[in-house]
Amino acid sequence: MMNEPHLQTVAWKHNAIRLIDQTRLPETLHYVDIRGLKTLWQAIKAMKVRGAPALGGTAALGVYLGIKNARVKNISGLMKIMDEVIAYIGSSRPTARNLFWAMERIRRAAQRSSAKTVEGIKQLTFKEAQKIIAEDMISCRNIGRFGQTLLKDNDTVLTICNTGILATIDYGTALGVIYSAVKQGKRIKVYACETRPMLQGARLTTWELKRAGIETALICDSMAASLMSQGLIQKVIAGADRIVANGDTANKIGTYNLAVASRYHNVPFYVAAPASTFDLRLRTGKEIPIEERPGDEVTKLFFKKPIAAAGIGVYNPAFDVTPGRLISAIITDRGIVKAPYTKNIRNIIKG
Ligand code: MRU
Repeated sequence: MMNEPHLQTVAWKHNAIRLIDQTRLPETLHYVDIRGLKTLWQAIKAMKVRGAPALGGTAALGVYLGIKNARVKNISGLMKIMDEVIAYIGSSRPTARNLFWAMERIRRAAQRSSAKTVEGIKQLTFKEAQKIIAEDMISCRNIGRFGQTLLKDNDTVLTICNTGILATIDYGTALGVIYSAVKQGKRIKVYACETRPMLQGARLTTWELKRAGIETALICDSMAASLMSQGLIQKVIAGADRIVANGDTANKIGTYNLAVASRYHNVPFYVAAPASTFDLRLRTGKEIPIEERPGDEVTKLFFKKPIAAAGIGVYNPAFDVTPGRLISAIITDRGIVKAPYTKNIRNIIKG
């Protein structure tokens, strides 16, 4: 029986943004309180907080953090500062749509508000950020509710990166589907890809799933196709950082490999994400900005032990794009979407 997860990855506590410091897991469950915008930017960049929906919640609170002490004469002065704060937080990591979506939503709410004072707009910003956080908790459970219908008793599911409690506010997208299936009484075994180079699968997913009492085996990323060829994987479920109009999906580097291998071995490949991850302004995955990260993530084991010749060149894109045509279905908080994606995504996300 699964133990209920009771963690909140991102919250507002004692006048600060309280985050689980994910760089310290699995050794220590440590929280950091963030009181300044620069510290927030660095925490995002260093992946103390990561995962698209968690980044959305963090950025939303970050907008409030950035404006709450602003001394300005009028609302237009405050909006100018808000724009600067949004641009600054947005310069931390470019790929996850949720980070930008959350800040755009707050800005729109402030613009449309009938509040007549600077203090009123500050309060509205705070409330909107809290709403984004509360809605994420609901939307993850909805993803779980819809997605679990795709899993059968005794299924073995392969996943990549971390898409659980730690990647959202408190439940997860792809892992939320697994949590929900287990809650329904289905026996699910998980294979977790370690997810080089930052090891979110090894460090975070195994920690979460062990805590939840879900049978899990950690594998190296390079083992996935071989497991599929042996019939050990019934389904693959990945998360998403950005899904565009035609279903092309950016997610953690290595996701595309899994999608290609799944198609070859006839294993269903699912993506799970909330509506806030969709970016319908972009038509194809070619338009998605892909973050490139420092080489020492690849040449050193978690920045410590060198594992490559000193000074060697490195290319380290943090995400790849899986074409929609390789995705069997996208599990959203509004229902399950299947091809043809351009039409069906528009209906479910805009409708
Ligand atoms: O670089 P990260 O750890 O932020 O990448 C996270 C992922 O790729 C996740 O799969 C994605 O954000 C979805 S999280 C529910």
